[in-house]
Amino acid sequence: MSRKPSVLITGASGEIGHALIARLAAGDPDRPIVTLDLNPLPPESAKLVRQAVHGSILDTALLDGIHAQYEVDRVYHLAALLSTRSEFSPALAHKVNVEGTLNLLEFAQKAGESHGRPVAFFYPSSIAAFGLPSLEVKTKAGKVKEDDYNVPTTMYGANKLYCEHLGRYYSRHYKQLAAETQSGKVDFRCIRFPGLISAETVPSGGTSDYAPEMIHAAASGEPYACFVRPDARIPFMAMPDAVDAIFRLMDAPRAKLSRTVYNIGAFAPSAAEIEAVVHAAFPKVAMSTQVDEKRQAIVDSWPADVDDSAARRDWGHAPAFGFASAFGEYLIPSIEKRYAAE
Ligand code: SER
Repeated sequence: MSRKPSVLITGASGEIGHALIARLAAGDPDRPIVTLDLNPLPPESAKLVRQAVHGSILDTALLDGIHAQYEVDRVYHLAALLSTRSEFSPALAHKVNVEGTLNLLEFAQKAGESHGRPVAFFYPSSIAAFGLPSLEVKTKAGKVKEDDYNVPTTMYGANKLYCEHLGRYYSRHYKQLAAETQSGKVDFRCIRFPGLISAETVPSGGTSDYAPEMIHAAASGEPYACFVRPDARIPFMAMPDAVDAIFRLMDAPRAKLSRTVYNIGAFAPSAAEIEAVVHAAFPKVAMSTQVDEKRQAIVDSWPADVDDSAARRDWGHAPAFGFASAFGEYLIPSIEKRYAAE
């Protein structure tokens, strides 16, 4: 039982959770971290948290138990089925991605009502919330703004877009017809991430996975067949910059935030440009292209790049890594070291 202000992280054993827990524990060691995930936490994360609850975000009794035990005033709701996986089980994706998010928003509302402070609620959305109708439009559109082309073609994208709206509802309009206003207990803050690439972990079930898969395969000496065309282009970001952005957004004074949902970008290479950099670092590894037309169509519906001027203006988004430095100074040296040690 801890009545200290505490943090709840769902999906904590995933890629973002792994990087986030290390930074949160280092920055504020006195604030208890509780995690909720179907999968066990890796040991390096487990030793940093107060309690790792093993279970589902669909289990409201489990959430009630966490509410009874901890005074949560920060939620990082990372649990989700990613875009490729969601296309194989759309109804399950809706359950986990939408009903699961509703459960966490209800949890945050209840927590805020009981301790009287707003609960800062971080929600990772994605470039999958966009849907560009054709390659021609994608090429012409260039850097896309948050409110343009909000017509996703995937279940995952539709889930993310709707949950962005749910978050805004809980933050600003919750029970707007009630005699006494109940809104303002959830302080929803959302980033639409580009594809993320980490040196520590490999994603599973995403459609932007070709970039991380390519570099992790090459560093471990495995041949890799890229599943998108060489000209396929979407924005990407190195994981340390993604975690930095979460910190900046969560630390920003609420009055500075003109929106609840922000695009962020860093670099936007084509698959051929990524392959060239990876090939230069690991010249002996065979790399080829074997296009999966269906996954390609999803990548083609995502923007070539995003306009992140609102994030830069409102809370100082400023990624440290560009394309050359993300690969040359972070990904290639760290991944090389990791596979050499295995
Ligand atoms: N990068 C994720 C995916 O490909 C989207 O958020 O599913």
